[in-house]
Amino acid sequence: MRKKIVAANWKMNMTQAESARFVESMLLDLGDITDVEVVIVPPFTAIAKVMEALGKAQNIKVGGQNMYWEKNGPFTGEISAALLRDLFVHYVVLGHSERRTLFGETDEIVNRKVRAAHEATLRPIVCIGETLQQRDRGNVDKILSIQLRGSLAGLTPKELQETVIAYEPVWAIGTGRNATPAQAQEAHAFIRHTLHQMADETTAERVRIQYGGSVKPENAGELMSQPDIDGALVGGASLDPRSFVQIVKAARDR
Ligand code: PGA
Repeated sequence: MRKKIVAANWKMNMTQAESARFVESMLLDLGDITDVEVVIVPPFTAIAKVMEALGKAQNIKVGGQNMYWEKNGPFTGEISAALLRDLFVHYVVLGHSERRTLFGETDEIVNRKVRAAHEATLRPIVCIGETLQQRDRGNVDKILSIQLRGSLAGLTPKELQETVIAYEPVWAIGTGRNATPAQAQEAHAFIRHTLHQMADETTAERVRIQYGGSVKPENAGELMSQPDIDGALVGGASLDPRSFVQIVKAARDR
């Protein structure tokens, strides 16, 4: 049985004060949650504040939104896996579609980062997903297969099992237009099938695949009841603690 994982991707939002207020409010409801894995992914500038506000609530994990693959050195403006680990961060989101389209990240770049993350025992949440044009042309499976094989190349079965995949159709991100549960399930089943081909059945069954793209309290339950949807990567609706808590609660018993 895969444990559901729900992550709050705050993107370029949330000051230190706002982050602390969010965590304090969230902990009133989720302070002792253990049946769903909850991950907060703040901007780098708020990570330390989030850790401080979480205090002893070690059931809630923290993630970075990006990192560079080198260990250290002259890479002005970049941050390494080791620097994230230094802040007690457990996860890192890699290959988000905003990084792919706005910052030119290719599958090869994502793959370097994914491998560097594993080397540093940081667990990657690897985002993949098709554009609307690719979907309209009937190329969803092809695109997902290329992105998966490219981004996860060279990983051992154990590393694959410690990787979370986020299926995020680009046309659903920040648009208010989510994939239907059936569309999402179809893509998730295809991703699991591809993981089976890339590794083995046990590995494919263990990898958690989140759905992302306009997840809200109103649609979260139905999406996460699909057999291959193991949680959500939430953007917009994760900026409000009440809606994020509702989404986490919707992941229970699904
Ligand atoms: P959204 O973003 O929930 O605002 O659509 C999801 C994401 O980009 O991870």
